[in-house]
Amino acid sequence: MKKTLALLFGGRSGEHEISIISARSVANAVDRSAFHLLPIYITREGKWLSEAASRSVLERDYEALVKNPDALAEERRRVAKLRGAFKFDFSRIDVVFPVLHGTFGEDGTVQGLLEMMNVPYVGNGVLASALTMDKAMAKAAFKEAGLNVVDYVVAFRREIESELRLVVKRCENALRYPMFVKPANLGSSVGVSKAKTRAQLEDGLKLAARYDRKVLIEQGLDARELEVAVLGNDELQVSVVGEIVPCNEFYDYEAKYVKSDSKLYIPAPLPKRQSETIRKQAAIAFKAAGCEGMARVDFFLEKGANKLFINEINAIPGFTSISMYPKMFLATGVSYPELISRLIELAFERFEETRKNQTSVVF
Ligand SMILES: Nc1ncnc2c1ncn2[C@@H]1O[C@H](COP(=O)(O)OP(=O)(O)O)[C@@H](O)[C@H]1O
Ligand SMILES: [Mg+2]
Repeated sequence: MKKTLALLFGGRSGEHEISIISARSVANAVDRSAFHLLPIYITREGKWLSEAASRSVLERDYEALVKNPDALAEERRRVAKLRGAFKFDFSRIDVVFPVLHGTFGEDGTVQGLLEMMNVPYVGNGVLASALTMDKAMAKAAFKEAGLNVVDYVVAFRREIESELRLVVKRCENALRYPMFVKPANLGSSVGVSKAKTRAQLEDGLKLAARYDRKVLIEQGLDARELEVAVLGNDELQVSVVGEIVPCNEFYDYEAKYVKSDSKLYIPAPLPKRQSETIRKQAAIAFKAAGCEGMARVDFFLEKGANKLFINEINAIPGFTSISMYPKMFLATGVSYPELISRLIELAFERFEETRKNQTSVVF
């Protein structure tokens, strides 16, 4: 008997399209001899669509669409007219693979729903998802584990709207230009900007506050960008280190998904000792954030000083054909289909482990 694997994708997030691209890659790699694939597309408005409607989205080449604004606008109009709702029945679903990035997907919300529905799901649980989604909270956990994080300031939308000058002062007192301004809970560089001047800082704060009520302002570094992929629940498999050299001034949305000129080096050219240190720190960060299943751990290696900082953990890393997470495992000897199968196994293992918990008190 084949098991049913529900693939959740789309979602109420700035990374909606990236999720569709990731989901398409995952769908192609799922072992169809073991699993029946049930695609569930979540619209930008948060509606869950039927299998047929979801399949029509999954079949589209969003990798090409994100590079073509007119075609993307046309596709959005098509999607807005799709009818047919997912019947909220999890009884025929054996396992869920949430391939959702950003808010309402990578942040613990959907994980909480799946816990309540008592269905196994791939990847991080509620706590690790929520913690790693919030860049400020994650930094606190990393610091506690003894890892270096860049200096930063937190500001809220209300302050940015009503007392921008005070926020700017707070940033300038604590940090030097250039600074990076980012929404605390997002990804794919959506709403992230580099500020070299006060005017750019003001614009960046307003931009980030459009995406999140909580905004992070960080000390900008001149750094190499290194990443490590981690897989496992209790025992961890840690990939080789990868490096990204963005084609733009920083690794913004365009450099990630629109242009194809950013360079990826796997493994990163690093002395062996240094890459071992980075891999060890990736495992420490994974545990410190309470991660399970998978995570991509991103670092900055400051040029000159050669100092290592942890930047962030991605609880649901990109799974597109060009994404680092699967590529780094490929370079470590785990193929894309093997990786997907292993992630599903880990979901069942965690579910079984949780079921062992006693739920009644014995005196
Ligand atoms: N403190 C920083 N110093 C230098 N570059 C940064 C800094 N913070 C972010 N960046 C640049 O912005 C990109 C996106 O920031 P990041 O914090 O990784 O957000 P996201 O979750 O959107 O990927 C990074 O990959 C890097 O190129
Ligand atoms: Mg990042």
